Amino acid sequence: MRRMIQTLAALALLGLLGAAAVVGLGLYNVSAQVGHMPGVSWVLHTTFRNSVKLRATSMEAAPDLSDPDLVALGAGHYATACAPCHASPGTDRSATMRAMNPVPPRIEEAIGDWAPNHLHWIVENGVKMSGMPAWPAAHRGDEVWAVVAYLVALREGTAGDLPTDGPEGEARAYCATCHGRVGGRVPRLDLQDPGYLAAQLRAYADGTRPSGIMAQAVSLVPKAAHAELAAYFASAEGPEDVSAATGADTAEGAELAQAGTREVPACAACHEGAEPRKGPVLDGQTRAFLDQQLRLWRDGTYAHDKLMSAAAQELTDDDIAALAAYYAGRR
Ligand code: HEC
Ligand code: HEC
Ligand code: HEC
Repeated sequence: MRRMIQTLAALALLGLLGAAAVVGLGLYNVSAQVGHMPGVSWVLHTTFRNSVKLRATSMEAAPDLSDPDLVALGAGHYATACAPCHASPGTDRSATMRAMNPVPPRIEEAIGDWAPNHLHWIVENGVKMSGMPAWPAAHRGDEVWAVVAYLVALREGTAGDLPTDGPEGEARAYCATCHGRVGGRVPRLDLQDPGYLAAQLRAYADGTRPSGIMAQAVSLVPKAAHAELAAYFASAEGPEDVSAATGADTAEGAELAQAGTREVPACAACHEGAEPRKGPVLDGQTRAFLDQQLRLWRDGTYAHDKLMSAAAQELTDDDIAALAAYYAGRR
């Protein structure tokens, strides 16, 4: 018995010394040109697939993935955030990307037969030690669904082309790939004053307002251009057909917005009336955006304004739906 323990201890020591030599003396070749030893790639990829399946996001949180506004938003993000590695659909990756190890698969192969919630997990979390990045904002799984909606549409052949106005051209045209097609979760900017818009761009850039989509967009234009972009979009023409909350009963929303309750302050106190107003204009803003933003404030994902955090604290899902419908339907 004692013999056996001694032998095992000796073997363990030898193993440790071996590992220390590999690490300390640089014996392991990290060259991406040399690939893995036989079997290692299989082990890593199988670990990856099973890890994703074990942890995948619940589909209960998924919005309607066939919503064209959501697909368009995902396409806008894909064009600058994913295409540099996975290429635009139907094209191949650059020679340099193909020299990565592991190689980023062409997007059609990357989507493969992954279920939507698996894709969601991969895009939100990234894959350690592989070059596949995580979503650039924490706790914004809600935004990741837009990219998933695009990937699912791509697999089904309904995705349409990617936007072609990139940040290397005129910045406004690039911003307009999303903000020119107002709808869904993309907010109207023409409602706000330039000071508010510029402050939001700063908050997205430094992460105090966490959004992976807008953090990516602002990181691609020089800081010096922010003020001019804010001025331009604040004076842009609004859409002719405001996303009216047709058919929605907005009486409950009106009551809450104008009078509030014991727990919820009246929104009108800060969001309506002439300048100086404490908060941004909500009248005529898109419904899906308002709904989304109120959840972010209530759930504590957004915390960059104490007054607004406090105002949203006690809102129920029904309150949020009613308020979003009410403000979206106003001029
Ligand atoms: C810097 C390069 C890079 C960027 C940018 C990138 N990826 Fe990846 N991605 C990779 C690599 C490398 C892998 C392969 C990981 C592996 O096989 O272990 C990968 C894997 C994936 C997979 C899983 C494919 C499989 O092996 O089954 C999906 C899906 C995916 N990426 C989607 C995206 C999306 C969507 C974006 C944009 C939000 C994105 N990627 C951005 C490099 C990148
Ligand atoms: C890929 C689509 C996309 C692109 C490109 C994009 N945006 Fe956005 N923008 C969004 C979305 C989605 C939001 C809402 C984000 C959130 O959850 O806070 C947003 C929010 C904003 C807001 C905050 C508005 C408010 O009422 O709070 C401003 C300001 C803004 N964007 C300006 C810009 C500018 C300027 C550019 C170009 C540099 C740009 N965006 C590019 C999608 C985009
Ligand atoms: C005490 C003032 C105050 C009250 C009351 C208040 N808000 Fe706000 N709200 C703000 C401020 C300030 C901001 C902007 C914070 C920032 O991003 O700088 C804001 C932001 C928002 C936004 C994000 C808009 C955008 O364009 O990004 C929404 C939506 C919103 N509030 C809805 C509401 C609703 C609905 C109520 C009523 C339940 C409400 N607020 C009550 C001050 C207030």
